[in-house]
Amino acid sequence: MSYRGPKGTYDVYPGGREPHERPELWAWVEGIAREYFRRYAYSEVRLPIFEEAQLFVRSVGEASDIVRKEMFVFHDKGGRELSLRPEGTAGVVRSYVEHGLYKVAQPVKAWYLGPMFRHERQQKGRYRQHVQIGAEVLGSDDPLIDVEVISLLYSIHQALGVKDEVVYLNNLGDLETRRSYVPELRSYLKKHESELDPDSISRIETNPLRTFDSKDKNTQALLAEAPVISDYLSEEARGHFDAVKAGLEAVGVPYAVDERLVRGLDYYTLTVFEAKSAALGAQDTVGGGGRYNGLVSELGGPEMPGIGFGSGVERILLAANSPEEGAKLDVFFATLVPEARLTAFALASSLRAEGIACDLDYAGRSAKGQFKQADRTGARFAIILGDEELAQGACKLRDMNSGEERFLSVVEGPGELLRALKA
Ligand code: HAM
Repeated sequence: MSYRGPKGTYDVYPGGREPHERPELWAWVEGIAREYFRRYAYSEVRLPIFEEAQLFVRSVGEASDIVRKEMFVFHDKGGRELSLRPEGTAGVVRSYVEHGLYKVAQPVKAWYLGPMFRHERQQKGRYRQHVQIGAEVLGSDDPLIDVEVISLLYSIHQALGVKDEVVYLNNLGDLETRRSYVPELRSYLKKHESELDPDSISRIETNPLRTFDSKDKNTQALLAEAPVISDYLSEEARGHFDAVKAGLEAVGVPYAVDERLVRGLDYYTLTVFEAKSAALGAQDTVGGGGRYNGLVSELGGPEMPGIGFGSGVERILLAANSPEEGAKLDVFFATLVPEARLTAFALASSLRAEGIACDLDYAGRSAKGQFKQADRTGARFAIILGDEELAQGACKLRDMNSGEERFLSVVEGPGELLRALKA
């Protein structure tokens, strides 16, 4: 009997082939993301990976693809209906309300990194378990916060070398705007129903905004003539949109307005955005997000605005210039006689305590095999211990690049050796 990982999942493992399967690249992405969140003054939050299913129904929206088709829903032993989280925003807002964080100094700026679950058809850049880096800012409707969130997303991507990225931007107005716009769009779509693809027809009643995402050529041509939400914006929404654009220009984030950008989650108001990379194929959205000014009150809190982004790490890695080399060992030990193993082991232990990355043979290799292994690990140095070294309380340090060797005493402790390793 043998097993494979569940469909739509992948493993991160030593020697992983795809960028998102390589452990050292995850450490690299996480390190850079963490550093940027520190610079922008965001605090980390760690939340459950399952929540009450209704939390997502209320926030992401009953008519959204995520809720209709993609959630991993299950019942616990107490009969509660739970769901693996398909996204991170709902949980952050739930936590903000539950802990009364609207009472502390605003805004609250939070970030997270963790797995999300969507039952989607697997393809390159689309998985049933994917990992998002996300940020949410609650309690401010300042358009400069929109700019901060977008430029934070963009800066993280740039620091990771995401290629050919443009941020597409739209403004969906407030809920009032959508209330006046959606019936207009619906009646336009109804008038042209016979020319639409079946998926779009089924969305006319439930979620007409999503027809803008159709890949069907006829539908797209038809939508090019459809009423656009920008014509329905209030003065206030228009002012907010202008301020966000001016801010993006001031900080040099390349953006383009896309009046047909609607996003797939229902909680958005005003600003929405998607960062796309021309280096990717069909799944070219590296990250996206927007404002959700009605969500805190929808989930039982006071009227408090919010905005955030989510970015898929797998897609970041596919679109990035990731470093080819993983982290290397400083030292690999080669023991020429069995009696040297314990000495090597103890020496490795004191070097590790001083911050040196080292390893030794645990597979009974010959001396030749150990040198081969030292090569394979890419270690900068080999430390060789044979009869002569043992007798003199010393070791031989070999520079693996130049082949140069030095005989160093360790009788007084590893000080001399450490100096040589750190030089
Ligand atoms: P989203 O656009 O659904 O937004 O997902 C954010 C990002 O997660 C996408 O741009 C993509 O990079 C990645 N992603 C989504 N689904 C998959 C998948 N099946 N496989 C691989 N990557 C995927 C949200 O989730 C919102 N919570 C973002 C947000 C935060 N809005 C406001 N705050």
